[in-house]
Amino acid sequence: MSDFERPVVRPRRLRRTPALRELVAETTLRPGQLVLPAFVREGASEPVPISSMPGVVQHSRDSLRRAAVEAVEAGVRGLMLFGVPTTKDAVGSGATDPDGILNLAIADVAAEVGDDLVVMSDLCLDEFTDHGHCGVLDERGHIDNDATLQRYADMALAQAEAGAAVVGPSGMMDGQVAVIREALDAAGHLDTAILAYSAKYASAFYGPFREAVDSALQGDRRTYQQDARNARESVREVLLDIDEGADIVMVKPALAYLDVLRRIADLAAEQGVPVAAYNISGEYSMVEAAAAQGWIEREPAILETLTAIRRAGADVILTYWAVEAARWLR
Ligand code: PBG
Repeated sequence: MSDFERPVVRPRRLRRTPALRELVAETTLRPGQLVLPAFVREGASEPVPISSMPGVVQHSRDSLRRAAVEAVEAGVRGLMLFGVPTTKDAVGSGATDPDGILNLAIADVAAEVGDDLVVMSDLCLDEFTDHGHCGVLDERGHIDNDATLQRYADMALAQAEAGAAVVGPSGMMDGQVAVIREALDAAGHLDTAILAYSAKYASAFYGPFREAVDSALQGDRRTYQQDARNARESVREVLLDIDEGADIVMVKPALAYLDVLRRIADLAAEQGVPVAAYNISGEYSMVEAAAAQGWIEREPAILETLTAIRRAGADVILTYWAVEAARWLR
């Protein structure tokens, strides 16, 4: 043969057949690692489509119960609930009302599926406030961090009493995990866990979610959600949340923040807590839109997305594709 040197090391050997590739695959993706986020709309008699999230709906209370059963049957292990109330006010009264839509839906789902599915609830005021912010405002119209904490404590109690197994504080107020833990414990809800949205960034990719919850927000959340330019800050947020009693920490969004996720996964492993990542609305809609145009192949694109989030270190993934992906994976 000619004078080139043959490669001695040939990584391609291990890629030759599907069996070989399967044998050496580093990353697993199981239905049991997936959590389905779901929306429930007050007063809806049937599911209402969300135009910017094809395939996702605002559920009626009945259709939500059915969706929860389907999730269990598919092997999904968690459901993260968001409420869409018909009336909103300055303090988000619907969030703490035992007859508020989110609290009713928590009880519905808990009654339907019991412990077969981990019932989780978004613990944040934005769906319930007429200004659309995650907290209450002071006289100048600024977010009042500490007054918001009191609302979160009450909201945690309402959700735990309704039957939430896990509460998910997503408002990025300082001290929120500590206040919620203390309120839950004082009321005897010792086993209610906290999935803390610890490293949550102000993101343009939340766009479709704003339609999903009929958000009233004007402006942005940059005084409380993190700046996309910062990664180190996530370490601080996560350590604080673990210290305050978070059982699971989360990075959100996922795709534009896989570097942050990797860093937090390494940190969380040292600290001994699991890590979740939220594959958010805009990440969902981009794939759906491109697939609808025929520009990418939908199923492999979805599985590659979820695999990448696992590879970057997530133990748990919140994804609108949870049930469909779980069925493919079985
Ligand atoms: C706040 C909250 C948001 C999302 C989950 N919880 C919106 C925001 O912070 O603006 C976004 C989820 C998604 O985009 O899929 N309660």
